Amino acid sequence: MSEITLKINGQDRAIDVPTDMPLLWALRDILNLTGSKYGCGIGTCGTCTVLVDGSPMRSCVIPAVGLEGREITTIEGLDPTGNHPVQRAWNDEDVPQCGYCQGGQILAASALLENNPNPSDEDINVAMSGVLCRCGTYYRIRKAIKRAAQDISKDGGDA
Ligand code: FES
Ligand code: FES
Repeated sequence: MSEITLKINGQDRAIDVPTDMPLLWALRDILNLTGSKYGCGIGTCGTCTVLVDGSPMRSCVIPAVGLEGREITTIEGLDPTGNHPVQRAWNDEDVPQCGYCQGGQILAASALLENNPNPSDEDINVAMSGVLCRCGTYYRIRKAIKRAAQDISKDGGDA
């Protein structure tokens, strides 16, 4: 076991974890942050996506012990009031179907818009290709990302 302190959603969280425990298990089973979902467990589906220093990463394959000193953002912390431009656009476009993949989708979309406020269809396809949706919500995801991009540009970058 290792005692570590992770910075999650802006707060330091001290936890005791097995040295090989992936971040996803630390989030869900120890910290009760269950918005990050288990899909494949082998780094292929992206449903467990969180942001590490602002970049999307698959929390099922990164050991928690390697993440001390990094900024981790889960879906619970993107905007606790649910008012992030991407979350607003997701509501407006009624994106989710079963919802299982959507936390990962929203975090990946927010990272994309942080780096590229006006993404093309191709930019969106590339950035979002790491998070699979069994319900096939890709068309609405693309519409929502474009809506969020407009919203952000109108508000002068409020992401
Ligand atoms: S659960 Fe992590 S990539 Fe599928
Ligand atoms: S909304 Fe069901 S898996 Fe994406």
